[in-house]
This record gives sequence, structure tokens and C-alpha cells, in this order.
Amino acid sequence: MAFTVPTRKPPTTTEPVFSVSGLWKVFGPKPERIPADPELSTLEPADLRARTGCTAAVRDVSFDVRKGEVFVVMGLSGSGKSTLVRCLTRLIEPTAGTIAIDGEDVRAMDKGRLRELRRHRAAMVFQHFGLLPHRTVLDNVAYGLEIQGVGKSERRERAAEVVAKVGLEGMEQRRPGQLSGGQRQRVGLARALAVDPEVLLFDEPFSALDPLIRRDMQDEVVRLHREEGRTMVFITHDLTEALKLGDRIALMRDGRVVQLGTPEEIVGSPADDYVREFVRDVPREQVMTCRTAMRPAAADDTANGPAVSPQATVAEAIEAVARAGAPARVMDEGRCLGVVDHEQLLDVVAGVTTLTPAAAVDADDAPEAAPGKPRRANPPAPRTSPEDAAPTTPEAV
Ligand SMILES: Nc1ncnc2c1ncn2[C@@H]1O[C@H](COP(=O)(O)OP(=O)(O)O)[C@@H](O)[C@H]1O
Ligand SMILES: [Mg+2]
Repeated sequence: MAFTVPTRKPPTTTEPVFSVSGLWKVFGPKPERIPADPELSTLEPADLRARTGCTAAVRDVSFDVRKGEVFVVMGLSGSGKSTLVRCLTRLIEPTAGTIAIDGEDVRAMDKGRLRELRRHRAAMVFQHFGLLPHRTVLDNVAYGLEIQGVGKSERRERAAEVVAKVGLEGMEQRRPGQLSGGQRQRVGLARALAVDPEVLLFDEPFSALDPLIRRDMQDEVVRLHREEGRTMVFITHDLTEALKLGDRIALMRDGRVVQLGTPEEIVGSPADDYVREFVRDVPREQVMTCRTAMRPAAADDTANGPAVSPQATVAEAIEAVARAGAPARVMDEGRCLGVVDHEQLLDVVAGVTTLTPAAAVDADDAPEAAPGKPRRANPPAPRTSPEDAAPTTPEAV
């Protein structure tokens, strides 16, 4: 099934919405001693459990979520994703570290301020959120506004707007029991959107949906993000979903972030053997871009080959080169940055091309590459599931 992901509004700044530094969450007896103790804090998870009875679900994690980006947290089951996202609004109390939203210290917030944070600024979309079974779709969506004390007519008007936005027009008067799983998920999404939050937090919202509906919902998220440019933090254990949605991805293992980067950086320049194994089966040509694959133009390069953008995927360039029978020029605002011919493109497919650290930094800084996402015709599907490809962990499902 082919579909196009049209160009999204790139985040215009690197200004952080959430800023997280040295964050720990330890479950178990006397958790505070773990981050503070250099000996305990460096123990492997099994040793830590044996010595102290504690589980470090989040270990010394630092990252910024930039305004307007989709920030994906990916990892196998049990790697600490849910704990991390719940710490952001203190649904779970962190053990150590700092969290700021728009520069404001989240750990210093009192109850009232926290309520305000969760209701207005960072709304959560859960996998199993409790829709109220006796209420209509419209009233479920209006629920968040009701809690905020918004008047009835205003909240119904706003609810009707977002119900239409998520494609549920005509179903306003149904009850959750009269909806399919995918439609219920849309109600949950609409409910979070209704309060017009600065950030949407998703904790594996689509995991329970069957594959086609899941893909629909992913497209819905891409579309909403494109239309609104709202900042999103999206948790998933699914590599395909992460690569499709993420401007940047933080890959977690045993509570740590083992790599943080654009999909292209993660696939093209894995930080260690674990990440390399994880992304081994991703079709590289659907993630890597011409900016990475190109070589400098030579004097004898024909000037009449097809033009491709630096953000075009290698898969797209292959098609252009094959059709034209000539190397493609990588063009950016009328400038020729380089050339991709059969050789460069094949090198990417064969996995010979790696993103050099310099290229990775460059990609991160270049404004047009800031969203970090090639516009691909098809989402890359790993040839095996990430669970198969990744080293096994006991918690992996
Ligand atoms: N309330 C809790 N008490 C003890 N351990 C917990 C608790 N919540 C999560 N954990 C443990 O923390 C680790 C991370 O869990 P979680 O954040 O749910 O991972 P994920 O969302 O990636 O599947 C797991 O080992 C889990 O068993
Ligand atoms: Mg989870």
C-alpha cells in the first residue's frame, strides 16, 4: 500500500519545551541512595536487584524535546519508556535529576501547578485510557474541558471541532461501546487535543490496534502534526513506527538512552552493537538521504541529469536515476551540492555507506535537515520484528 508523507512544517527553532537532565527513577527500598552512590549506580540491572532489591527503570537520562518536533522514545518492553514519560509530568515521582518545561522547574511545582501542567500544557494519550462508557463521543471529548471549568456550549463547540478533526464526524452521539478500537483511539486523541495542550504525550497508544488501523492512526498523527506543528513525545516499542513518526528518536535499553538521533543517524551510524542489531533489517534506502549518499560533482558530470533534494531518500533517488539513466544532481535552492549515481546508491543499499560523525553533526545543524526526516514514499518496514532482531532481554515480549 503506497502512500505519501507530504513535507511537514519543520520545527523552526531548537528551543526546548521539555529539558531533562540526569533523570533517575528507582523502584524499591531507599531508592535515593542509588543515583548518589557511584558504586551502586553503575551496577548492571540484575546485580543492582540482587544487591539492593531495587530496579532502576530510568538511569541518568538527559535530553531536550524541541518545540514542534515529534520526539520518539523507543525500546523493548521493560526498557523504561513508560516510567520516563510519566516522570515528565510527575505522574511518577523522579528519584533524581531535573525536568523543566519552558524553563520552569517541574520538580518544584506544587499540586495546583502540576494539575495545570497535566490539564493544559502536556496532555497524555494512553493505550487504555478510560473512556466514560455512558457518555457520548462528544461528551467524552469535552470531558477535559469540563474539568477545566469551561462552559457547556463552549466546550461542546470545541469538542465538535476536534471530533471532526480526527475524522469522527457523524459519530458525536455514539457511546464508546458502539465504536471500533480505532475509533475509540481517535476519541482518546480528540480528548487530548480538545484542551489544546502545548505538548501531546503518547504512551504506545496504538499497540493494541490491528496493523491496518494502526497504520491509519500513524498517518493521522503525521497529518495532525503537519497541520498543527504541535510538539509530541511518542513512546513505542515498534521500530517501524519510530522511524515513520520520529523527527528524533531516543533508543532506550535497561533504563538508559543508548542513542539519540534522527532516524537517519540511528540507522546510518548506530552507536553500538545493540543499536546495530536493532536496526539491522531496516531497508536503509528508505531512511538514508541523498545528503549522506552524494559525492562531490566532477567536471565530466552531465548537467542534465534529474534533480533530487538533499532530503530525498535513496529509494527515491534510485527511481529517478533509473528512469533518467543518468546520475542525479542533489540540488538545494538552485545550488548543486553533489551527485548521486549508481555507485553511491548501491553502496547505501549494501550498507557500505555509513554516516560519519561529521555528517551526523552536519545533518543536525542544517536547518532543512532539522526535522531530520526524509520524505519517504513508504514507511520502512524491518524485514523482521525488532524483537527478533534485538538481543533478547528477559522482559521482552
Ligand atoms: N511500580 C513499579 N514498581 C517496581 N518496578 C517497576 C514499576 N513500574 C515499572 N517497573 C519496572 O521498571 C522497568 C521499566 O518499566 P516500564 O517503564 O514500564 O517499561 P516500558 O514502558 O519500556 O515497557 C521494568 O523493569 C519494570 O518492571
Ligand atoms: Mg510501557
